[in-house]
Amino acid sequence: MPEQFPVVILISGGGSNLQAIIDAAQTDDLAIDIRAVISNVPEVHGLARAQKAGIPTEVIKHTDFTCREDFDAALQTAIDGYQPKLVILAGFMRLLSDDFVNHYRGRMLNIHPSLLPDFKGLNTHQRALEAYRAGTLTQHGGSVHFVTPDLDGGPVILRASVPVKDDDSPESLAARVLVREHQIYPLVIRWFAEGRLSLKDNQAIFDGQPLKQTLSFDDLAL
Ligand code: GRF
Repeated sequence: MPEQFPVVILISGGGSNLQAIIDAAQTDDLAIDIRAVISNVPEVHGLARAQKAGIPTEVIKHTDFTCREDFDAALQTAIDGYQPKLVILAGFMRLLSDDFVNHYRGRMLNIHPSLLPDFKGLNTHQRALEAYRAGTLTQHGGSVHFVTPDLDGGPVILRASVPVKDDDSPESLAARVLVREHQIYPLVIRWFAEGRLSLKDNQAIFDGQPLKQTLSFDDLAL
């Protein structure tokens, strides 16, 4: 059996994206070895999901540290102990210092609940709904991107869209987006693990070519 690609996954919450990655890793679709799941919040459901799958877990509480740099340093030491080739942010809700981000430059991915570059930051579903009601938006969705010091601004690799509906609430919209997130994240992780995806300077490279345009899940012939 070929050696599996080592990854570490960071979470802060429910871990539905984590579950999608675990599920894909349990099939032939995604040959990764999830060496650890690390949460900055204790007792979140994502930790239980990892434990159920037999994956080692750690909790590193940011509240145990007096400053961001100390927390990031402890997190980095923990991650590097597992020697991952990719760090996967899956609902990890902490801002990360530039030093931390640069340490993992080109080997850290994030999923964001909007069609980036729209709606960077928090409360994306509420803001998308407001834009829909103002008549300036019809589609919302999720995006997978490389993490750089530019918050939610690193090169976007793949997006998937959903319609916004008249009777949507932020919760109903979030649920529709999550379904698509669960499709795109394992796929991008697979591309990275297969060596098809990399970051050069501030440019995503896919199959040896600069990714001039963000890929759309709906346009992929899968
Ligand atoms: C997702 O919407 C993800 O895009 C965002 O945080 C949420 C995490 O959800 N970064 P889950 O914990 O994976 O269910």
